[in-house]
Amino acid sequence: MAQSARDGFTSTFGVLLATLGSAVGLGNIWKFPSLTGMNGGAGFLLVYLLATLLVGLPVMIVETMLGRAARANAITTFEKVAPRGQWWWKIIGWMGFLAALLIMAFYSGVAGWVYAYVIKAAMGEISTTDPKAAGAAFGALVSNPVSSLLWQWVVLGVTGSIIMLGVSRGIEAVARKLMPLLFILLLVLCVRSLTLPGAAAPGLAFLFSPDLAKITPAVVLTALGLAFFKLSIGMGTMLTYGSYFREDQNIPATTTRVMLADLSVSLLAGIAIFPAVFAFGFEPAAGPSLVFMTIPAVFTSMPGGTVFMTIFFLLTAIASVGAILSLLEVPVAILSERFGYGRKRASLYTILAIALLGVPATLSQSVMAEIKVFGMNAFDLYDFLSSNVMLPLGGILICLFVGWVYGLPQLEKQLGNDGSLPNRGLIRAVFFLVRYVTPLLIALVLLHGLKVF
Ligand code: TRP
Repeated sequence: MAQSARDGFTSTFGVLLATLGSAVGLGNIWKFPSLTGMNGGAGFLLVYLLATLLVGLPVMIVETMLGRAARANAITTFEKVAPRGQWWWKIIGWMGFLAALLIMAFYSGVAGWVYAYVIKAAMGEISTTDPKAAGAAFGALVSNPVSSLLWQWVVLGVTGSIIMLGVSRGIEAVARKLMPLLFILLLVLCVRSLTLPGAAAPGLAFLFSPDLAKITPAVVLTALGLAFFKLSIGMGTMLTYGSYFREDQNIPATTTRVMLADLSVSLLAGIAIFPAVFAFGFEPAAGPSLVFMTIPAVFTSMPGGTVFMTIFFLLTAIASVGAILSLLEVPVAILSERFGYGRKRASLYTILAIALLGVPATLSQSVMAEIKVFGMNAFDLYDFLSSNVMLPLGGILICLFVGWVYGLPQLEKQLGNDGSLPNRGLIRAVFFLVRYVTPLLIALVLLHGLKVF
């Protein structure tokens, strides 16, 4: 995003696309399908939809709004908007700083697998529809400690250089131009997957015919965590991106469009994957490996598969860059604006911290697999702590701040662009939600999901 301190966007459409660039990433292509598969399919999807509408969207609106009001990084924002003496709101920003590092520690590892798959696809090494062979190919990559770490460092090197060279804006512009292509490829995959023999009926039933008995408190918490993760909210990415929004930007309209577009990419990924899972006999609950086995199988069963498969993984790699840049922006903005480091030094320190934290996450698929905390390896622990604990906690605090401290008059001024937008009813609804409904709902899901009661 912005390379010099805070030089907002030049068009309202540019803002929309940049925000979309942060939202769409491995969350759609990798995390959404694996979680949907592991949590029983349609029931999980239903809860995820509700969480996105009732919790995700209101939080996204007010978080973006605070960022634009303060035009500062995630910590300084709360010094600017909170009343004097209420220093504790800054904790939201610090928690976001930590969450960003934790998320990137595993996210960059998965991006490394995607980079490796670009090469493997081009060389025809993963052109198989056989679950055993697909599993072996994926296993060979992630269980090799050296190559999986090296690929993660390639990802960190690429994204770190983009930030340090100050070309994020340019790269994001290129990435955005390519995203419609990813969308089209997903559509093609959906058609192929649905027309495989014996695919459509079980695949669509798995995705869209919910079995309510499968919706446990843990499933609900996971769906909520995914809603936060998908919309990049609860830890300061949208505060930071909001700080680049234009004064005449219609924040509720922009965020709603981003949410809808993001949702459609995830749904397409789901429709591309699950019918094929049943046609070829993959295991829907395979977890993180699901996408890496199923997508190549669908491509393998169509003409020109190798070429399209390579392009698909390349586009996914590019989409992950946009999301990682938005994550990096949180610690980099904090380190450069609050600690007076130049952007280069701030980026370098951030990348080094992620590389260190990333070692246990990436090696948890091989030599460190047996080292567990709370029964989880480092990869799962980072994901759980960030998505299912820190982001929802950040969401509660942001809602409480806006609902009880910031107040309705300020909210009306900010979301109504000083009275120029005819959206008072909508603002009141958002206010009611973030004051009463959203924080309570998140707290219930969090406490219940963590088995506190
Ligand atoms: N939303 C991105 C994805 O789905 C990941 C991401 C970018 C993110 N910025 C974030 C997740 C901030 C949580 C918080 O791939």
